[in-house]
Amino acid sequence: MLVSATEMLKKAKAGHYAVGQFNINNLEWTKAVLQTAQELNSPVILGVSEGAGKYMTGFKTVAAMVKAMDESLGITVPVALHLDHGSYEGAKACIEAGFSSIMFDGSHFPLEENIAKSKEIIEICHSKGISVECEVGTIGGEEDGVIGAGEVADPEECKMIADLGVDMLAAGIGNIHGVYPANWAGLNFDALDAIQQKTGEMPLVLHGGTGIPDDMIKKAVTLGVSKINVNTECQLVFAEATRGYIEAGKDLQGKGFDPRKLLAPGTEAIKAKVKEKMELFGSVGKA
Ligand code: 13P
Repeated sequence: MLVSATEMLKKAKAGHYAVGQFNINNLEWTKAVLQTAQELNSPVILGVSEGAGKYMTGFKTVAAMVKAMDESLGITVPVALHLDHGSYEGAKACIEAGFSSIMFDGSHFPLEENIAKSKEIIEICHSKGISVECEVGTIGGEEDGVIGAGEVADPEECKMIADLGVDMLAAGIGNIHGVYPANWAGLNFDALDAIQQKTGEMPLVLHGGTGIPDDMIKKAVTLGVSKINVNTECQLVFAEATRGYIEAGKDLQGKGFDPRKLLAPGTEAIKAKVKEKMELFGSVGKA
């Protein structure tokens, strides 16, 4: 069931658990995430970066595939189709394409400009029942070629963006995208606490879910994180399982070269990873 992320995140914040956003790259990814959410009776958010959207030939293709798959698989749990780190133009294209949720990432703009653009996107989205995520304090690491510095967001700035009426707020708390370096200092819980105190009921979003230790994830959830984004971890297990299949020479046996066979171990690995994360985030049975 394709819905905006608003209700599922309000419920998550009130119920002290988090909904996972799993980024999708193709049909196998989408199918694996949807089937796992249904099996575990968990709400879920499908994240689509601008790069992944382009790879899948455009946001319209993605929206059409997700809507049709949701229907043909008989998915009854709430599913939000969400643009991840959208530009102003990307956000408008996804609104047009039929996404149910949008992240407008204006964190690299001066605050005034981030506020003005966020406000405009929020107005358009809310008039169409689409939920909106905005960001304060750039999330570090590399995503689609954009390298952020990994700032810690200013709680006052978070409140200013929260007050615009966003449905979820991404705030940098020392988290970065991709694999964490060995000398990573960990999440800044004092900053998270201060942000939650300023923003109250606002569901907070933790980006860069890959590689954050389980105890830090659990603590972040107690401090108001209601949405956790995971991308790289699914890519790593998919690659590992696919490599295992080829290294074992299975593509050379019988019809093992058939893409439906070749991609199956990777798809199963994504399912197992998504299950592990849903259990950790506490969203199982919350649909
Ligand atoms: P990871 O790739 O580090 O899991 O981050 C995902 C993310 O935050 C997408 O916005």
